[in-house]
Amino acid sequence: MTTPAPTDRRIDKLIRLLVENATVVVPGPKIAAEIGVTRATVWDWIEKLRSLGVEIKGHPATGYQLARLPDLLIPSLVRPDIGEGGIGHRMVHYFRADSTNTIALRMASEGADHGTAVVAEEQTAGRGRFGRVWYSEKSSGIYVSVLLRPPLAPGAAPALTLMAGVAAQAAVERPTGLVTDIRWPNDLLLNNKKLCGILTEMSAEVDRLHAVVIGIGINVNHREIPDELRSIATSLRLESGKTHSRIQILAALLRELEHYYQILLKQGVEAIVNRWTAVSTYARGKRIVVRTPSGEFRATTAGLESNGALRLRYDDGRVEPLVAGEITQLE
Ligand code: BTN
Repeated sequence: MTTPAPTDRRIDKLIRLLVENATVVVPGPKIAAEIGVTRATVWDWIEKLRSLGVEIKGHPATGYQLARLPDLLIPSLVRPDIGEGGIGHRMVHYFRADSTNTIALRMASEGADHGTAVVAEEQTAGRGRFGRVWYSEKSSGIYVSVLLRPPLAPGAAPALTLMAGVAAQAAVERPTGLVTDIRWPNDLLLNNKKLCGILTEMSAEVDRLHAVVIGIGINVNHREIPDELRSIATSLRLESGKTHSRIQILAALLRELEHYYQILLKQGVEAIVNRWTAVSTYARGKRIVVRTPSGEFRATTAGLESNGALRLRYDDGRVEPLVAGEITQLE
């Protein structure tokens, strides 16, 4: 199966045109001529953008004008805020995707470059860890997957997972001022509720990682969380009482991912482990329950191993590293 077609780049151009002329009404025929489509297509796309919450005044007879700057994650609005050549240098945007991770993995197998970012306004089959569904409401969250081709052995994969967590934490804090906690390995929490989850998937040989896809979902402007998730999940808006710019958070995320990726390559896993330990209350002394296929166990966290595994002191006295699994805080 080939990769589905992303957002038509001419829609990106249409938005750019409206943003650049935000103070004037732009006639439909002018837009049509500049982006190379018919006036009817311009009207279709304006309606599509309105359905995604972009506030555009006007109609075909009068022309169009933005009522406010749109918070859409399209490349032309996000790219000015990220550096040249780093993660996100190539951005592929979808209004609706099944799962950005699925698309990025497929693109990886088709040879896509290191640093490619796949972004969606909405996911119809967003995937979480442990085969769960990731709730991906339209235009409220950030759903992004970055494709990396690290010159590292598969043993470095847990460090990439921790790296994504510290990058996401910094990216949320920079534009919003909100300081989140990180639950091992990389859930972001505010007031003990999850607002960001990360799913790392990869293809590897015994001694070499071919491609790693890090999929990040951030609940930004959700006004409501579905009933079944309300006690454990939240959004930045629900916790702060304010809406936040998804563009700024996504741009910060791509910059922070590049920053911590370079730290991992240049300074090694230890630098990431140290950073994670400094910014998570889960690193040491946290009473937790760990869920494994063989049952649930109570333990206290006792630092990270040098490879990023979580050292646990179980209530029965065993001290063992947890390499993969799910933990929750004991009340
Ligand atoms: C988790 O269970 O905590 C991980 C959730 C990861 C969700 C993100 S949203 C973007 C990317 N695409 C997916 O299908 N999943 C990840």
